Amino acid sequence: MKALILYDSRSSAGSTESIIDSIGLSLAESGFYVEKAKCKATADYSFVKDFDLVILGAPVYNFIVASQLLGALIQGNLKINLKRKKIALFLTCGSSQSTATLFYLPQLKIHLIRNKILVEKIFAPDAFSDGDLIDSFVEDLLYEYNRGPKSKALSAKWTEEAQECYQSMPSFVHEKFRTMAEEYAEDMGYKEITLAVLEEAKGSFGAP
Ligand SMILES: Cc1cc2nc3c(=O)[nH]c(=O)nc-3n(C[C@H](O)[C@H](O)[C@H](O)COP(=O)(O)O)c2cc1C
Repeated sequence: MKALILYDSRSSAGSTESIIDSIGLSLAESGFYVEKAKCKATADYSFVKDFDLVILGAPVYNFIVASQLLGALIQGNLKINLKRKKIALFLTCGSSQSTATLFYLPQLKIHLIRNKILVEKIFAPDAFSDGDLIDSFVEDLLYEYNRGPKSKALSAKWTEEAQECYQSMPSFVHEKFRTMAEEYAEDMGYKEITLAVLEEAKGSFGAP
């Protein structure tokens, strides 16, 4: 299992890096191979494909999530390389949980609507050196990461239109199509398979 911690910070050895090092250590103790990389908006993120889990972390400066991480998502090729990746997010900031949840986290999440976000966390100043909070972030993350698809049996509901689309396909692709759609829905946390979900799943697998 390979985990990548992608982060941004203006400080060297600041609070964000210290949290990252603790998270990295905990993940390594749990059997992950861990790498960390500091974001640059213009970097090539194709290496992200080699990782099973990606943790994005950054501070907030002047009401905006640190610019190199946001830039990598907006201008760079990070978003495309995060396709179908399991992701965790955290922010470090001086504001309260509610402010950060309302104003700062969405700045990242809006670029990750096609990803399954396993856990998200705000680390406020009193949490920077709180080992318990960092441990609980990693515990939640490992729990969600290992939870996986519940079963190969149909766990999502199919809408009537989606079932019609399924039935209209040649029978020899039924099994493959069904597995692909259900695994995609499970990965993305969708409770129901609709035509839109099928379209998304096809796009995600690179199908025409
Ligand atoms: C110049 C500057 C601007 C900041 N602006 C904000 C802000 O708008 N909102 C907030 O919640 N915290 C803000 N903070 C607090 C930082 O997000 C917080 O201290 C963070 O942990 C810094 O991470 P670092 O140590 O990796 O640089 C600011 C800090 C600095 C130094």
